[in-house]
Amino acid sequence: MTSSESTARTPVPRAAFPHLRAALETFPPYIPGKPPRRVDGLTPYKLSSNENFLEPLPAVLETMLAHAKDPAQYPDDSALALREGLAARLGVGIDELIVTAGASELLVALTQITSDATTEAIYPWPSFEMYPQTTGLVGAKRIEVPNRPDGTHDLEAMAAAITDQTRLIILCSPNNPTGPALSDRELRDFLARVPDTVLVALDEAYWEFANADGVARGLDIYADHANVVLLRTFSKAHGLAGLRVGYGVAREPVIAGLRKAVIPFGVTALSQAAALTSLEHWDEVLERAAGLAATRDAFAQALRDQGWDVPQAQGNFVWLPLGELSGAFEDACVDQSIAVRNLESGVRISIGEQPGLDRVLDIAAAFRAEHFG
Ligand SMILES: Cc1ncc(COP(=O)(O)O)c(C=O)c1O
Repeated sequence: MTSSESTARTPVPRAAFPHLRAALETFPPYIPGKPPRRVDGLTPYKLSSNENFLEPLPAVLETMLAHAKDPAQYPDDSALALREGLAARLGVGIDELIVTAGASELLVALTQITSDATTEAIYPWPSFEMYPQTTGLVGAKRIEVPNRPDGTHDLEAMAAAITDQTRLIILCSPNNPTGPALSDRELRDFLARVPDTVLVALDEAYWEFANADGVARGLDIYADHANVVLLRTFSKAHGLAGLRVGYGVAREPVIAGLRKAVIPFGVTALSQAAALTSLEHWDEVLERAAGLAATRDAFAQALRDQGWDVPQAQGNFVWLPLGELSGAFEDACVDQSIAVRNLESGVRISIGEQPGLDRVLDIAAAFRAEHFG
């Protein structure tokens, strides 16, 4: 076959295409944050993907270089060294841990081991865009419970939504994109109302940035509730989103189920080693996260001082509940070479370098003057 033949396609009538699952029509694809548009004379800032704008720690870079010769071999499928490091750091057993290709893979696997077309999954909305995707893909009935006006989970409504068919409840703390974290009190009250047979996935992708008083600490909650699974990641505070490493903390039977659902060898040796090095610099990672949280608090306060209604911000991002003005705000940022995340009901701005945040503050002030007088 010549190259021109290989690209020529005979039109195929639509009805003759392979049949795909009807469930695919029930949820949208994941849409990643856009890159910033180039504007002459302006440094572009990507504040649309909740990435960590800091460079990896020098020791992590060194580890990555040291593992550059690894690719001919499969990695350790059980991620033993990393699990040992995590077990020591978190105070859980090594058999209570699974390492996955980001928290994203864990989310997919958790959905697969709990849910199918006969079951129901409950999650808050707006929240992380993968929740409709993973639960929708297995055909589960999706119960999206709207957050309260202040961006917090409506735990009362979530508890009321539980039925005999409920197998999975997802909570996100701090919640992406609205920002608030669950308090220890409200989470414990909620869990007291959840049957022990229902798995509760507590997504703590941003836990390192949470600094509010009384915030729920997943490990404490996990210690008291055998049906809770923690989802964690090296993508945010550790700044290793490109390496795709996440982990789950769960009781052994759940871990055994997850091991059947994850992709074999899904996390590369380089990624495992880099994550372990980052873990060995845990104090530095937490220090950086605290610095970023301080920047976030100052940025959120500056927006509130302009008159914006900013919900409690506990992740590495701030939420502006702009409703139908979300597109106009995004456009105003695009014009200034800033990419933010327009999620229709509002705009999420990731914490990045200070000059980028200062530019957003200028845009926000001008936007208020134009749209709110
Ligand atoms: C709430 C939440 N959970 C999980 C993830 C998945 O992160 P990763 O797959 O990079 O670990 C993200 C990423 O943005 C997130 O916002």
